Order: sequence, then C-alpha cells, then structure tokens
Amino acid sequence: MRISQTGDSKFGFKNANEERLTVQYLQEANPIVSPHPGTDVVKGLTQTPKTLSARYFYDDRGSELFEKICELPEYYLTRTETAILQQCASEIAQVTGACELVELGSGSSTKTRILLNAYNQLGYSIRYLPIDVSAGMLESSAKQLLVDYPSLEVHALAGTYESALAQLEPTQLPSRMIFFIGSSLGNLNPQECEAFLSKITDALQVGEYFLLGVDLQKPKHILEAAYNDSQKVTAAFNLNMLEHLNWRFDGNFDTTQFSHLAFYNEIEQRIEMHLSSLRSQTVELRALNLNVNFAPAETIFTEISRKFDLHAIQQELKALHLVPQKVWTDENKWFGLLLCQLQA
Ligand code: AVI
Repeated sequence: MRISQTGDSKFGFKNANEERLTVQYLQEANPIVSPHPGTDVVKGLTQTPKTLSARYFYDDRGSELFEKICELPEYYLTRTETAILQQCASEIAQVTGACELVELGSGSSTKTRILLNAYNQLGYSIRYLPIDVSAGMLESSAKQLLVDYPSLEVHALAGTYESALAQLEPTQLPSRMIFFIGSSLGNLNPQECEAFLSKITDALQVGEYFLLGVDLQKPKHILEAAYNDSQKVTAAFNLNMLEHLNWRFDGNFDTTQFSHLAFYNEIEQRIEMHLSSLRSQTVELRALNLNVNFAPAETIFTEISRKFDLHAIQQELKALHLVPQKVWTDENKWFGLLLCQLQA
C-alpha cells in the first residue's frame, strides 16, 4: 500500500496485493476537524430552530448503524437500487467502455462490486477511486477489493467530496465515470445540490459520465416507515449524533432525554429528521465552551432526505450539461438511476 498525504508524500510497500492500493489523505477544509473544529456546531445550536450538520452522523458507530439501516425491511432504498444496478450494470459498462470509476461516499463498496463485475465480464480496463471521509472504512473495503479483484488498481481518497473532486487528476484511461449512488444527493438542499453538481461538471471532461441514484416520490406511509423502522435502528442513528458530539467536544448530552422524530414534509418533498428534547434541560459542550438550553419539545434539525421527481431531476441535470443518456427505475418507480454524459 502506498500512503500519500497531500503536500507530503510517504511511500511504503507492503505485500503484492497492497502495491495496487494507494491511499491519499486529504488535508482539507473538513468542517468537522478543521480549520476551526466545531464552529458549525456552535452556530447550529445557538440559532432558532437549532440545527446540526448531517455530517455528524458518521463517526464509526454512525457508519455501522447506517450499514444496518441499509438492510432493514422498511428501508427499501438500498435493496431497490441494488436490484436496478444488477439489471443495468452491463449496459452501463457498454456505454462508458474502459474507464476510471470514481465513487463518492463509497462506504463499504458493496454496490460497487456489481459494477466492477460488469466491467470485468466485458474485459474493460478500469481503475477504481473510492472517496470517503471515513478513512478506516475506505482502507478496509479497498483491501478486500484487492483480494477479490486480482488485477484491480485502487486509488482511495480519504476526505470530503469537495476536496477530493477538486484534486482529481485527468484520467489515463479513455474515460471517467463519477458515481454517486444511494440517493445521498437527497441529503443536500437545492442550493447545496446545485453547487455540488457544478463540482461534478468541473471534475469531468466533455464526453465523460456521471451515474446518479435518486430516491423518488412515493406515498407518504412508505417513506415514513423507512425512516421510523420497527427495530429503531434509525432512531439510534439519529441519537448517535449526540454521542458523537459528546466524545468529540467533551459534551454531556443524555440521549435518553431526546427522542427521534422523522416525517415527510409534503410541501418540500423531503423526509425531515429531528431530535426532540423530552424536557427542559441544559447541555454543555466543554471543548466548545458552550452551554445550550432546551425547552420541552424543542428540536434539533439533523437531516433532510429529498425525494425526487424523475422528470424534474433530468431537466436539472440537463441544464448543467449533464445530459441523461439512460434512465432506469424499478417496477414501482420508487428509485431512479441516471447515466449522464457531460456535453459542451
Ligand atoms: C445517506 N442517505 C442517503 C440516507 C437517506 O436515506 O437519506 C441517510 C439516512 N438517514 C436516515 N436513514 C438513512
């Protein structure tokens, strides 16, 4: 494995497998750790209504809980997208040909294998670049991929999407496909979404590809069940954000004194997740020198998960020159997968 840190490269070779793996740790503007850790928390908890960035879901425990959410019977998103991908992976590979595969928010890279298999079966050369803030998960899943795909080269980037996209070098392969699946686009508000998509277009050359997975609008009861599962894993995931703040900022949130709240906002066409204070209480985050007062039933807004209209998202992408070439959905039209090409 070669380890490189932007601005300071260190290389150390391990075994034959790991020579095909490079890990680049980006030193960057990750608001959780730098340049001024916690300023966003102070801002979010001192405004009305209180908010916290969804980034705080994903410490090690949060990432594990999210993996569990993906397997829940009510959380149809992962299952449905995986089934679509299984149907169309070979077609995707045929359209793009040999290419560099850049995955945003790769997590455990489970769905990636469906794509890797399709490229392998068609005999196309590929290079895989997973990008994730969770360096531990990134390294362990990359190492497993090296074992399972004996000729695959992996260049992993540990950092935020923004900084990783900005630092991508032009590919040596005939094309590049950036993929952002799992409907994580839905966790961005419309302004953030537009800014994010323009970073995608900056990272692509004309003729290269963007594969996007989006959760679609559907009856409210199906959506609400997916975010209020009967095993309460989503509740634990939401409450874990407070545990994350406790260890990171020396806090004393008592998670038994908050409850999970998730509902579909039909006007905004999004699931909203909040944490609601069960009583009047004051919480201290010593490392931030912050005391926060909560009234009974006062909430912290923790996440939006937008649900898309397939026609509207295609128009939005087209306006940014990301022209959909192929669009796939499942039989219920619950989830959409769009293969777009950057055009001049
Ligand atoms: C990561 N993201 C697409 C998930 C979603 O469905 O919006 C996060 C999540 N929040 C609660 N459950 C899952």
